[in-house]
Amino acid sequence: MPQEKLYDDACQDWGFFLVINHGVSESLMKNVMEGCYEFFNLTDEEKKAYEGSDVLDPIRCGTSFNTAKETIFFWRDFLKVLVHPDFHFPDKPKGFSELALEYVERIREIAGELLRGISVSLGLEASYIHDVLNLESSLQVFVANLYPPCPQPELALGMPPHSDHGLLNILIENGVGGLQLLHNGKWVNVRAPPNSFLVNTCDHLEILSNGRYKSVVHRAVVNNATTRLSLAIANGPSLDTIVRPAPGLTDGANNPPAYTPMKYKEYLQLQQGNKLDQKSVLDRIRLQKE
Ligand code: OGA
Ligand code: NI
Repeated sequence: MPQEKLYDDACQDWGFFLVINHGVSESLMKNVMEGCYEFFNLTDEEKKAYEGSDVLDPIRCGTSFNTAKETIFFWRDFLKVLVHPDFHFPDKPKGFSELALEYVERIREIAGELLRGISVSLGLEASYIHDVLNLESSLQVFVANLYPPCPQPELALGMPPHSDHGLLNILIENGVGGLQLLHNGKWVNVRAPPNSFLVNTCDHLEILSNGRYKSVVHRAVVNNATTRLSLAIANGPSLDTIVRPAPGLTDGANNPPAYTPMKYKEYLQLQQGNKLDQKSVLDRIRLQKE
């Protein structure tokens, strides 16, 4: 890993930052994106084998074209795979699984390095987050999103406004924009320059840091011209860990813990049981209203 500082303190305000100097090869990034395209190009019959419904099913793929029920359409195909602590992966297309394994290992190293920096930025030991959240057995999810051109993009969204549940989500895209962050009440377009990672901070970092790092609300919009592909790797605590604000960051009178402790797995199930809506799950365990 490069030794220079990988993150910028501004990310506490934005909930988002870019990692440029990461050492992951361009060809690995390109090939894993290619594998995602090929997966989405499998026949419906082939993809059917990977349909799942529960948030903890190891492999799930599906489509969010729900023209019957929604007033706003979610214009997206997705593949979600649990890749750590146990590595699962579709066995098609050929070679995709090996690439994905190498890619998620590299991303885990980067996430680990960033979380060391973040621990230090909070005045904690560098290994604090790794140790208390049991990152040896961290939950890591491979999420590929395909947004085909949409004839009426103003009537649809690729993904509704939401925050992510884990610690850090690390995303790349195929050069087509569509990701927007909510910043000071306005939607801001963000693009990943070639070969860089877009990283956003997630709910469990907000909980652990007692609100010093905020999870960022974001959404994906669609366009009527070009297919967009994004690959987000979600890096979270270990599923059985109860996450609470770090005691070193709270004090009884001035800065009491602002979130109820909860097992990460239960949080995921709570999110799964509710519709994806801004920070509604985090709001449910928030003790101090802002
Ligand atoms: C996600 C996500 C946005 C995008 O997968 O959680 O927010 O740009 N993706 O695809
Ligand atoms: Ni997200």
